[in-house]
Amino acid sequence: MANQPMIQLKDVTKVYDNGTVGLKDINLEIDKGEFVVVVGLSGAGKSTLLRSINRLQDISEGDILIDGKSITKAKGKDLRLIRRDIGMIFQSFNLVKRSSVLRNVLTGRVAYYPTWKTTFNLFSKEDKQKAYEALQRVDLADKVYTRADQLSGGQQQRVAIARVLTQNPKIILADEPTASLDPQTSRRVMHDLKMLNEEYGMTVLANLHSVELAREFGDRVIGVRAGQIVYDGKMSETPQSVFDDIYGGKKDVEMGAENE
Ligand SMILES: Nc1ncnc2c1ncn2[C@@H]1O[C@H](COP(=O)(O)OP(=O)(O)OP(=O)(O)O)[C@@H](O)[C@H]1O
Ligand SMILES: [Mg+2]
Repeated sequence: MANQPMIQLKDVTKVYDNGTVGLKDINLEIDKGEFVVVVGLSGAGKSTLLRSINRLQDISEGDILIDGKSITKAKGKDLRLIRRDIGMIFQSFNLVKRSSVLRNVLTGRVAYYPTWKTTFNLFSKEDKQKAYEALQRVDLADKVYTRADQLSGGQQQRVAIARVLTQNPKIILADEPTASLDPQTSRRVMHDLKMLNEEYGMTVLANLHSVELAREFGDRVIGVRAGQIVYDGKMSETPQSVFDDIYGGKKDVEMGAENE
């Protein structure tokens, strides 16, 4: 199918066990190669949206299709194969702190091996080469053997980006990738994410608190409030008033952060 969306949500609702409605009747289509930013106040449902897409949590109603296949209904091997096509970037980097940078990047390949092989550290020479090349792409080739916890926050996030590149997914979900970084470092990390989007055609969906970064890097913006999509449009056609509105009429650009 030529024009099939890369990510499709059909009437998706997520109600947590305690009754909190995380997502309410979401319908959304994201095409291959889009760079979409999700904005909204703390508690709006941004993380719930991302966690639902790769099924880190199950949804209550509806269906989510990844490149035409339902991740909602997938089981076993099918689920693993769909998940391999989805890379994740977290605010907290999620690196194995005491392992080398190279090892961390190599874990991007784990899903391509049967489990017993990775237990015995049998990554192929090709994969080591891939990992090294990914580190070159984020300018960290000189840190290959450095322990992850000896890097700065920005460098650690770029290792996570190299790991995603090594995984070679169709989609990258980034949950506030720059929330613990200073503005300049944030821009560098976003730049590397944009590189994966533009040069490798990976579809990116990123939750961001910073309107400034959203504007600079997003092609499309989705505004979320109380589990619903309240805005969806091209970034170039989105006036500042939309952001002011999503953030409750306040002008401060880093708003969501105040509630954490
Ligand atoms: N595991 C959970 N159990 C119950 N309620 C939850 C759970 N996780 C999230 N929620 C609730 O679901 C709603 C959406 O939360 P979510 O984490 O998606 O918000 P968010 O937009 O990512 O916020 P933030 O900007 O603070 O990260 C909130 O009301 C939150 O309290
Ligand atoms: Mg969140």
